[in-house]
Amino acid sequence: ASGPVLDRYRRPLRNLRISVTDRCNLRCRYCMPEAEYVWLPRRDLLTFEEISTLVDVFMSLGVDKVRVTGGEPLLRHDLPTLVGMLAAKPLRDLAMTTNGVLLADHVEALRAAGLRRLTVSLDTLRAERSKTLSQRNTHPQVLAGLASIAPAGFTDTKIDTVALRGINDDELVDLVEYARTVPAEVRFIEYMDVGGATTWSPDLVLSRADMLETLTAHYGPITPLPASDVAPADRFALPDGTTFGIISSTTQPFCATCDRSRLTADGMWFRCLYAIEGTNLRDPLRDGASFEELRQLITGRWAARTDRGAVDRLAERDRTPFVPLAMLRSNPH
Ligand code: GTP
Ligand code: 5AD
Ligand code: SF4
Repeated sequence: ASGPVLDRYRRPLRNLRISVTDRCNLRCRYCMPEAEYVWLPRRDLLTFEEISTLVDVFMSLGVDKVRVTGGEPLLRHDLPTLVGMLAAKPLRDLAMTTNGVLLADHVEALRAAGLRRLTVSLDTLRAERSKTLSQRNTHPQVLAGLASIAPAGFTDTKIDTVALRGINDDELVDLVEYARTVPAEVRFIEYMDVGGATTWSPDLVLSRADMLETLTAHYGPITPLPASDVAPADRFALPDGTTFGIISSTTQPFCATCDRSRLTADGMWFRCLYAIEGTNLRDPLRDGASFEELRQLITGRWAARTDRGAVDRLAERDRTPFVPLAMLRSNPH
């Protein structure tokens, strides 16, 4: 049978995030804090053809939104070629999340290849602070990357800001003002204890309620906007109509409607950001599994899906004192 496959909580499989490399050129304290990591050897990475084949299988099961992620996706050699292969498929959305460092050099090629939307991570407008947070001196390049987006013809751009108490919580208004000029919609993300966030602590979480309080104090009444889609961000409008989003995965998880899964650069398929166990799709693919066999494998795993990682984490936190997480294979990208 064809058509969308539903999990145990009747959530469809619609949104696929594809990590094209595990490498990154930044060392954001909340994501990849260590100086050195052991990266995947090249032979372990899915080729563009393998990714394309898997996307076809996923599309036959209901996936219609694809996001290219990393690590930092622009570190993958020849990425516009992959984007072109994906753009040729009848997807509803094809986006990429990047840290922006290399964006200005590639933005035209990405656009020409058929990428539809960009999301850029930006936690601060201050170069010094950026250096402290990302352990690299690349802030000017990131701003240049952001400035290159609209001239290249992209619209619906987003900025992702991880809001950290005592670190960038005094920049919410500045970031809203800056995003307007890009133009982009800024989304403030609650710090999550996931992936490389080995130094996560509840004290560092700026909650959605905190953020709304700060922004209301500056702008006046803020209006919640109706959710247009199954998206992690709740959207709001300022009195002058400017919109922004909040992703409150830590205090108000969206697991109940989560339609997303992720494919790592080496072909492991995870059905939750918090999942420790994934399904190896690369080996069956390389061993010659047919389209139908891959389809059966994915269908079976999705149909059995009961993951509610962020909800479970919230419940655990209420019961037990905080224990730092071990490094997991997936990250929020
Ligand atoms: P659009 O809204 O469609 O543009 O995409 P998106 O919201 O998926 O964008 P993006 O990739 O920029 O993700 C933004 C943030 O959402 C991430 O930084 C995470 O904080 C959060 N997020 C993404 N995927 C998941 C997930 O599977 N589970 C949880 N709990 N949070 C997620
Ligand atoms: N909590 C919240 N957001 C995170 N990101 C990376 N690690 C974390 C974390 N522990 C963000 C990045 C990027 C987005 C895709 O995920 O900053 O904006
Ligand atoms: Fe790199 Fe993004 Fe992680 Fe920062 S958050 S270290 S830019 S992957």
